[in-house]
Amino acid sequence: MCGIVALIGSREAAPQLLEGLRQLEYRGYDSAGIATVEADGSPGAPGRLHCLRAEGKLVNLTARWEAEGAPGHCGIGHTRWATHGKPEERNAHPHLDGSGRLAVVQNGIIENHRTLREELQAEGVTFLSDTDTEVIPHLVARRLRELGAEGHAADAALLLRAVQEVLPLLHGAYALAVVWADVPGALVVARRQAPLLIGLGEGEFLCASDTPALAGFTRTILPLEDGEVALLTPLGIELYNAAGARVQRTPSLLSGTEHVADKRSFRHFMLKEIHEQPETAALWVARHLPEGALVALPLDEAFYEGVEEIEILACGTSRHAAQVGAYLLEQLAGIPTNVFYASEFRYAPPPLVPGMLTIGVTQSGETADTLAALAMEQERRLGHGDPAYAPKLLGITNRPESSLSRMVPHLLDIGAGIEVGVAATKTFLGQLLAFYGLALAFAERRLAAGAPVGRDRQGLETLVAELRALPQQLQQLVDDHDRRCTELAHLFADTQDVIFLGRGINYPIAMEGALKLKEISYIHAEGYPAGEMKHGPIALLDARVPVVSIAMPGMVFDKVLSNAQEAKARDAQLIGVAPAGPDTALFDTLLPVPEVDELLSPLLTVIPMQLLSYHIAAHRGLDVDQPRNLAKSVTVE
Ligand code: M6R
Repeated sequence: MCGIVALIGSREAAPQLLEGLRQLEYRGYDSAGIATVEADGSPGAPGRLHCLRAEGKLVNLTARWEAEGAPGHCGIGHTRWATHGKPEERNAHPHLDGSGRLAVVQNGIIENHRTLREELQAEGVTFLSDTDTEVIPHLVARRLRELGAEGHAADAALLLRAVQEVLPLLHGAYALAVVWADVPGALVVARRQAPLLIGLGEGEFLCASDTPALAGFTRTILPLEDGEVALLTPLGIELYNAAGARVQRTPSLLSGTEHVADKRSFRHFMLKEIHEQPETAALWVARHLPEGALVALPLDEAFYEGVEEIEILACGTSRHAAQVGAYLLEQLAGIPTNVFYASEFRYAPPPLVPGMLTIGVTQSGETADTLAALAMEQERRLGHGDPAYAPKLLGITNRPESSLSRMVPHLLDIGAGIEVGVAATKTFLGQLLAFYGLALAFAERRLAAGAPVGRDRQGLETLVAELRALPQQLQQLVDDHDRRCTELAHLFADTQDVIFLGRGINYPIAMEGALKLKEISYIHAEGYPAGEMKHGPIALLDARVPVVSIAMPGMVFDKVLSNAQEAKARDAQLIGVAPAGPDTALFDTLLPVPEVDELLSPLLTVIPMQLLSYHIAAHRGLDVDQPRNLAKSVTVE
C-alpha cells in the first residue's frame, strides 16, 4: 500500500520522482507528493526544501509541479493509499517537521503513533495531519536537536544517526525515506517488513517500493533487507543492519522485462493482461511440462518427502486460486489440504500437526497479511522443537525478488510478467497453473509410493496432454469472449446485484467472478456454491438480479443445471458459462466454454468471468485499472 521513491544524483530530481511515482501508482492513488532539496551552491551550506502535495491522482501533482516547480538534485516522493486520515492534501506525504526543513515519506503503519503523537504534543509539537507518519519527521528533528544539530555544521552522518536512533521507537512495518534541507546532498532510507530497493544508476541512486519505478533508470538493484538503513550520497551507499553494523552486499541484476509496464494499444492494463493469458500459459507449459516427463518443478526431491497435510495462506484472488489448488491437492494428489484467509489465520491458527507443508500465495509477494501469517507459522513451528513439526514453507508468487521470496526456502515463480491492473487476472491464471503443477508432482510421487491418489498414471498423462493444449484454447476463448462480453455489457447498465454460482472445482471461480465484478464495477456481487442457494440467498432473486452460472460437464453438471433452473423459476436472467448444447439451452445467454476434463475447467471458465467484469466496468466508464479505495499491493495488515 502506498509507493515511495527517493532520488539522489546530479540531475533534477522532480521529473524522475514523478516518473517513478507514475510507475508505482498501482500501489495507491488517492493523493501524492514530492519534496526536493535545493542546494545553495556553496559546499556545506544548507539548502532549501520544496514540498508539493496534491489530492487525487498523480496528474494533479504533476500539474502543480509544472506550475510551481521543485528544484534540487535530491528528493523523495509518495503515492498514497489512505490508512490513517482521509485522502486529503493535508494527509498526503511528504510530512514535515515543525521547521519545515525535514521531510519524510513512509509506506506502512506506525502502530504506536498515537502514543508518540501524545508524547510530542506534550512537548509542544503541532501536528498538521491525521497520519501515523507525521510523528517521524518530528521525532527525527527532536533527535537532531538532542544531538546538537543546531549550532554545529550539519552533516550526513548526523542525519543517519538521528534516523537510526528514532527507528527503534517505531512499532509496526514501514519503508521510509528522509531528506533534510541542512544536508542537501544526503538521503536516508530504511525498511522493516515493507519493501524497499535501491536502483544503482551512473552517479545517482533511485530508491523505490517496487521495480517498475526503476524502468529506464537501471537494472542494477540492491534490495534492502529487513531492518536495514542506508545513507545515500552522490558518492555512494552506506548500508547498515538493524544493530547499526556496516553491511557490504553485492547488487543484483533485474532480469527480463519484469519491471516494464507498458499498456501497448489496449485501452486498459486489465484488458491487456487478460489478453496475455495464452502467453502466460504457453510459457508455463514450455517450462514445466517437458516432453518425456509428467511435470518438472524447481523443487528438490526432499521437498516432497514427509508431507502429510497442506495449509494454504492467501488473500483475495490469490485465496481463490488456493481454493482451486486445495481441490486439486486433495482430489488429485490425495493430500488433506486447508485454505485460510491469511488475515484470520494469524489470530486463530489450527492446532499444530506434524508433516505440514505451508504454502503462501501472493502475486505481489508483499501482502502484509500473508507474510505475517507465514512468519507466525514459521515461528510457532520452530518453537515446537520436534523435527516432525518443523516448518516447511513454499511461496507461490509473480515477484521472485519480493519479501515473500526472501522469507521462504521453496518458491514457485509463476512468471506472468508484471501485472499493473489492480484486478488480478493473468497472475490468477499463473497461480492456478502453479497448483496444477504441484498437484501433479505430488500425485506422481504418491502414486509411485502406492499411496491413494485421484488418477492412475494414464489419467495423469491424459491431464498433462490436455494442459499442453491450454494456450490455444485460451487464445480462442479470450478473442471470442472479448467480443461477446462487449456486446453483453450494455445489459448490465442498471444492474445493482449479480449472483455467481458454481460447484466443486468451479465454486472458487464463481467467487472470483463476483470479486472481479465488485472491485472494478462497484456492482454488488456474491459468489455461492450453487447448491447453497436454496438455503437462503435464493430469496434475493427476481428479474433484476442476473445469475451467472458455471456449468461444466462432470460430477456436478446435472446438479448445477438444476440449481440454475431454480433461479430461472424466480425470474432471474440466466447467463451460463458452459459448453453449447441441448443441456445448456436453458440459459438466456451463453458464454460458451469448450468441454474439457472437469479438473481443468477452472483454467477456462475464469476467462468469461474476467471479460464480463472488465466490459461492464469499461461500459460504465469507470477507472478499471485503478478502482476506488483499492491498491495493487496491500502492504498493511
Ligand atoms: O498480491 P496478492 O496476491 O497477495 O494480493 C492479494 C489480494 O489483495 C488481491 O488478490 C486482491 O484481491 C486483488 N485486487 C484481486 O483482483
